[in-house]
Amino acid sequence: MSNPPVPAPPSAAGTWWSDAVVYQIYPRSFADGDGDGMGDLRGVLDRLPYLEQLGVDAIWLSPFYKSPQADGGYDVADYRQVDPLFGSLADFDAMLQDAHRRGMKVIVDLVPNHTSDEHAWFQAALAAAPGSPERGRYIFREGRDEAPGSGDGNRPPNNWKSVFGGPAWTRVSEQDGSPGQWYLHLFDTKQPDLNWENAEVQEEMRAVLRFWLDRGADGFRVDVAHGLVKEAGLPDWEGVAAMVEGTSRPRTDSHLPGEAPGAHTDAEEPHRSVSPMYPPSPFFDQDGVHDIYRDWRRVLDEYGGDRMMVAEAWVEPAERLARYVRPDEMQQAFNFDFLLAGWDAERMAEAIEASLAAAESVGAPCTWVLSNHDTVRHATRFGLKDPTTFPKGIAEFDEQPDAALGLARARAATLVALALPGSAYLYQGEELGLPEHTTLPAEARQDPTFFRTRGAEIGRDGCRVPLPWEENQPGFGFSATHGGAAARPWLPQPESFGPLAADQQDGEEGSTLELYRAALRFRSVRRLGQGTVEWTDEHAPDSGLLAFRNGDVLVVANMGFASAPVPEGFKVVLSSGPEPAEDWAGMQEVPVDSTVYLQRG
Ligand code: GLC
Repeated sequence: MSNPPVPAPPSAAGTWWSDAVVYQIYPRSFADGDGDGMGDLRGVLDRLPYLEQLGVDAIWLSPFYKSPQADGGYDVADYRQVDPLFGSLADFDAMLQDAHRRGMKVIVDLVPNHTSDEHAWFQAALAAAPGSPERGRYIFREGRDEAPGSGDGNRPPNNWKSVFGGPAWTRVSEQDGSPGQWYLHLFDTKQPDLNWENAEVQEEMRAVLRFWLDRGADGFRVDVAHGLVKEAGLPDWEGVAAMVEGTSRPRTDSHLPGEAPGAHTDAEEPHRSVSPMYPPSPFFDQDGVHDIYRDWRRVLDEYGGDRMMVAEAWVEPAERLARYVRPDEMQQAFNFDFLLAGWDAERMAEAIEASLAAAESVGAPCTWVLSNHDTVRHATRFGLKDPTTFPKGIAEFDEQPDAALGLARARAATLVALALPGSAYLYQGEELGLPEHTTLPAEARQDPTFFRTRGAEIGRDGCRVPLPWEENQPGFGFSATHGGAAARPWLPQPESFGPLAADQQDGEEGSTLELYRAALRFRSVRRLGQGTVEWTDEHAPDSGLLAFRNGDVLVVANMGFASAPVPEGFKVVLSSGPEPAEDWAGMQEVPVDSTVYLQRG
């Protein structure tokens, strides 16, 4: 690096999040401190020095609460307990304290749209009668009749489908064993939706916020923030529930464990390639959700003003997303348009432009994200023939990515993201250039999506594989052994993870890990997160060139088919390509599938 690391001046008081680099930890798969093959909070604590050295400002932990783990913990049975799989509240406190000591903030995941069916409230609702206050916390309804007037209630109350495939309603048995009411679950059967018109639900979630704020949490990532409020009357809807635009398609060759390929010709129709807004759906992005976030904002503000919320809201267009980050609502929302833009200069420039404009219209900072625990890792997406496609999981019978191309473009896209003003979210393992596991055996799969679509959707397990820390250890060092034998990681790791293990990249010039460290240092020293985007003369999306200036740094990403000249009077100070650092200053060209940072000189 040509720029020695000097500490950046602190952000304005109370707005640390506005330019923060936040590292997402999926606790099951980050690091296993107790040696049972499942990641945990002790593992996070042990690896905090690694994150400090990486240079991130904050960590966001996906759910670690008490949960039967029907959806990787996004099915919460107790919002105030740590699941024994991950440790204890004391482990959380110790981890948070050490993160704070190292100057890192801690964001926890809040799952307010639904609980687990094993939550005490839902169990009480099952035991109570229709119309009871216990049922009133969820969305229970009578079924529709098979034949008009029959009174059998055999059909679900409306035609909504679950985001994970299959119907969004499940019928319960009443206490006397008779077929009873139906309850709504936009996700898995084991994730009943809460009724957000219910005052007790509202009060409980405020109390949950306070519980974690009192423990020192710096903020919340709000799960399915666009889903809490449903249109009155729960009208039928002809669209299909989807969290993202996708290219999922019916698979004739998919099958569940133990079944022959093609065993299911009656597979549930997987959700098609639609966005949740077309046509507007009666369960996503209802105006009423904003009252909830205004209410929560008042709770956060009681804590001195620097606690934050970031919305997971799959809504379009950017102006709708901006409504979640109005001055009296959340501070941030994930910008999925950027993630979906693919390796396409025109689409990426449009996404950047639209996101910046929308955020600016409400005075909020932008966020930039390329991977998370729900999407195919970007090192793999960018290696597909059409990187703008958005598969929901990849199996061995699907198109396999070009790994080298994917990695080159992923590194380049990351340098674009990290040079943009606002806040950047990294997903664990992307700093190692990890690919998706694209050949996981069906037997290993755990994502409910896979089962609810009878394999038509492969699901998200491929991006949730335990991280490789040391190439020459069993399980690539994922589990601490404490002198005993190493447990097998909860999902099998592909062979390709070995050479990508953290210990192989640490200190290795040109490695992805060192590239991330250098880019984060550069971003911090140059305060790129607080800068602006100014498109320059070199910007030519038609020919695949994305070029902008942020302060005195010129960023050029080459998504075209031919090298581009380094502009007169500039020299390369950081490159995503394989060139050694000592060659950067002499570079005359920006190779295809790479991004460079330039400065005058
Ligand atoms: C969010 C989470 C995802 C989860 C779903 C239901 O989209 O990111 O992992 O399955 O909500 O809670």
